[in-house]
Amino acid sequence: MRKKIVAGNWKMNCDLDEGQKLTSEIVNMLKDEKINDVNVVLNPPFPHLHLVNKLIQGVSRVFLGAQNCSDKNSGAYTGEISASMLKSFAASYVILGHSERREYFGETNALLTEKVKRALENGLKPIFCCGEPLEIRESGDHESYVTQQLTESLFGFSEEEIKNIVIAYEPIWAIGTGKTASSDQAQEMHASIRKHIASKFGREVAEGISILYGGSCKPDNAKEIFSKQDVDGGLIGGASLKSRDFVEIIKSF
Ligand code: G3P
Repeated sequence: MRKKIVAGNWKMNCDLDEGQKLTSEIVNMLKDEKINDVNVVLNPPFPHLHLVNKLIQGVSRVFLGAQNCSDKNSGAYTGEISASMLKSFAASYVILGHSERREYFGETNALLTEKVKRALENGLKPIFCCGEPLEIRESGDHESYVTQQLTESLFGFSEEEIKNIVIAYEPIWAIGTGKTASSDQAQEMHASIRKHIASKFGREVAEGISILYGGSCKPDNAKEIFSKQDVDGGLIGGASLKSRDFVEIIKSF
């Protein structure tokens, strides 16, 4: 049975006090709510990792994640953060290949293969992001665009390795725009992603991989999106910075 996951991607937001307040509010709300069998992942900016980890201690099903890691293990790479460092801060997950990093920092499918390797070597679960820009959606080439991202970055891994990877489908035209993909659009792409994974790793492995939706997921649309057969949760941006909204999304299953 694949995991239901709701991950909050804080992006470059929250100073120390804001991060502590947000995490404490989420933790207190989750302690009072029955969140069924949903795994919650908080992905703050790096400086928050140690404090957020302390604040989520003892809260079941809440895990620490990061928003990136280096493709290198250690060394003279100023400003970089290694997967082993993230592991030492008790991170369990790491977002890789987010469209904003692909766009602003030139991350390629080949580079992301190396980042996924570092994450897996250090016992982290990659949340691997894929998704098409608006012009590709409008041209009708979105399925081939996304499956190519998966083929080029992930199809060199073994069955055992791929089982540890979470996929996040984030149509770029829906990120931060308020223009959410419809639940049918999300289901179409999630089913296509799952079918593509099955073509390489077999149906059993593909059925066990969590595929999250990201892109303007909010409390008023999460229930409909999460109800779809191949949607296993969400990767939440803006709404993850509002404790009540984030918890409402978690409760949407
Ligand atoms: O990684 C999740 C993010 O890209 C989605 O952002 O603000 O549209 O929920 P948002």
